[in-house]
Amino acid sequence: MQYDFDRLVDRRHTHSSKWDLSHAMFGEKDLLNMWVADMDFPCPQPVVEALRRRVEHPFYGYTFAPDSLYDAIIEWVGKRYGWSIKKEWIVFNPGVIEGLYSAIKALAKPGDEIVVQPPVYYPFYQAIKQAGCQLVYNPLRLEGTRYTMDLEGLEGKFRPATTFPTHYPRVKALVLCSPHNPVARVWSRGELEELGRVCLANRCAIIADEIHCDLTVGEARHTVMASVSKELEQHTITLMSASKTFNLAGLHTSYAIIPQAQWRDQFRQARVGHGSVNLFGLVAMEAAYRHGDDYLRQLLDYLKGNVGLFTGYIRENIPAIHVVPPEGTYLAWVDMRRLGLDNLQLQRLIRQKARLAVNDGYAFGPGGDGFQRFNLACPRSVVREALGRLEAALPGR
Ligand SMILES: Cc1ncc(COP(=O)(O)O)c(C=O)c1O
Repeated sequence: MQYDFDRLVDRRHTHSSKWDLSHAMFGEKDLLNMWVADMDFPCPQPVVEALRRRVEHPFYGYTFAPDSLYDAIIEWVGKRYGWSIKKEWIVFNPGVIEGLYSAIKALAKPGDEIVVQPPVYYPFYQAIKQAGCQLVYNPLRLEGTRYTMDLEGLEGKFRPATTFPTHYPRVKALVLCSPHNPVARVWSRGELEELGRVCLANRCAIIADEIHCDLTVGEARHTVMASVSKELEQHTITLMSASKTFNLAGLHTSYAIIPQAQWRDQFRQARVGHGSVNLFGLVAMEAAYRHGDDYLRQLLDYLKGNVGLFTGYIRENIPAIHVVPPEGTYLAWVDMRRLGLDNLQLQRLIRQKARLAVNDGYAFGPGGDGFQRFNLACPRSVVREALGRLEAALPGR
């Protein structure tokens, strides 16, 4: 079927965080909402139909993931990423971030160090701190307009904790964001191979948050970290979900893929609660993976158009700011450092003058100052409106 992503749908008064919490979050009314990472597009029609069928049967008791859902996930990951996974590797979680909390607790003890590569999705920081672990920053490098991982910097983090009694490194894991929110990089296979080499050499586990894996722009191709080699497969906990791809985040259903049996046990033990899953989330995920190809193809095409419009318009008309070319996600990371404003002044300009609700770069940690993150998963007319507001707020720049 043909999806109409141009259609504006009023999402107010639907318990939408993006639309109904905007005032509370930003302290201003009637902002144009381009913040939290959910899409202003309805989810695929087959998902709606599957949910409707299930709602009609008015029993919503405890549930479990059926074999057919495991099969749908195995097929999706196999056909899109060439990674052949086994049913027993899959562990369901409410959300990817809950999965991250469990993964950290499974792999590290309080006091251990965990590496993140800022600027990065900020709930990572809290997950590490809550496990009693120490955050180690290995900031991304911005070379020209392109972010890369600082692998030399990473090597430097693996000093032995002490020369006696053991040389075992204190850095236990690295949290990889792939594709990377907020800088929208899709890491190449070569980059992941290099990262994997450094991590393996230092017995550092990889927790790969690949929630945005299906969302690539143009020619960019996502590589699953764990699929790079058999050794890395055993060394990685992969966190995935259908939630970003098909706009299902409110259904709170995701999964971890953990090939190493011992880590799987540790992950299950670290989990809070008994691992029950959301009935509607399971139904929606299976319908999306089985019948969502068509939607995803059209969505990626539409998002590419939005990215092109946003990037090109700013390049031509608002040269004082610059969009880091997005390769994946539907997020645009906009460099506003040349405006010469501090974070508070920039925030005021964007909220009060441009009337936009977008995410402040500094919230993503080191390297985020002077940036703003825009969510481009919205009808094109909204992108145009945002560009007009930005241009008007930055006269003569
Ligand atoms: C990189 C990344 N991980 C995790 C999440 C949140 O996932 P969940 O809602 O499944 O916890 C997001 C949401 O924006 C994200 O961008």
